[in-house]
Amino acid sequence: MSSLQPVSSSFTHCQLVYVSESQHSQVADIQALIIAHQLPIILHLELFADKLNQKRRQQLSQTATQPILLLDDKDKLSWLSDGLSVAPEWDKLQRRVVSAGRKSELLLQAAKLTTDSRVIDATAGFGHDSLILASTGAQVIMLEQQPLMALLLLAEQQRMSALPNWQKLMSRLHIINSEALSYFASLQAESLNTIKKVDAIYLDPMFPEDSYQDSKTGKGAKVGKHMQALHQLASPPTSEEELQLLQSAQAVVGQNGQHTQLRGRVVVKRPQLAPLLANQQPSESWHNEAVRFDGYFV
Ligand SMILES: C[S@@+](CC[C@H](N)C(=O)[O-])C[C@H]1O[C@@H](n2cnc3c(N)ncnc32)[C@H](O)[C@@H]1O
Repeated sequence: MSSLQPVSSSFTHCQLVYVSESQHSQVADIQALIIAHQLPIILHLELFADKLNQKRRQQLSQTATQPILLLDDKDKLSWLSDGLSVAPEWDKLQRRVVSAGRKSELLLQAAKLTTDSRVIDATAGFGHDSLILASTGAQVIMLEQQPLMALLLLAEQQRMSALPNWQKLMSRLHIINSEALSYFASLQAESLNTIKKVDAIYLDPMFPEDSYQDSKTGKGAKVGKHMQALHQLASPPTSEEELQLLQSAQAVVGQNGQHTQLRGRVVVKRPQLAPLLANQQPSESWHNEAVRFDGYFV
């Protein structure tokens, strides 16, 4: 095991497990992403040449004192959370991305993007919704507060950029490791001459784990492995934080009005029966059996 970066208390220490000597260049690529994007992550490398079956993965994550990242034999980077590998799975979205449109995607009905739109996905997570937003041709700025999640996103973008069919879409994703409120504040501090318009801001903040409800039974619905893992890293916002997030997002899209006739919007994703974000009434809502998108027009 070796430490590769200077130690600082605000850095996240992660164990990077790789499975073959021949993966040195892929490991170097991951380190290069950390440096290029100034992610506060210190990697501790461990070559694990034994077969990493489910039992070993479980043992590894149970005994670990720090998050474990796994570079598997297909060079896919994932996070080993409770023995399960979780990672952005963008290739699995291919069919959805190709056919995405306002008819098939409620998110796109709510966001109303065009090819020259610029949208901020302020809570990027695994980036699945960002991909749907980018399928419109829009530029998508993806904010993710957790360095480990930001690294998974960057590694997935790098991996997918090697596939010719995905290159254009990948070039429209701009991943930034930042907390949304501080990013919004920095946008507002920019000089009015340099500020670029933001047509829409998308918010999908964490929601209490026990409050996902099945719309038919009203009982708790099962949370998928991706969301279960995220609940270990991030907590739902308090009601004051919800209000701050919504108001700051509205202020950013509202800045467009100072230069153009554009009307921006903030779109918030909620489980279908969940209360409104910060108790604020949206201008319009779209829902299916599982989710609801609340649109706040500015
Ligand atoms: C529910 S998940 C989003 C899932 C995402 N829509 C997707 O398609 O994968 C929320 C994510 O937003 C991040 N997040 C929550 N609040 C944030 C904030 N204020 N700024 C930046 N990221 C935030 C969390 O760390 C988490 O990864």
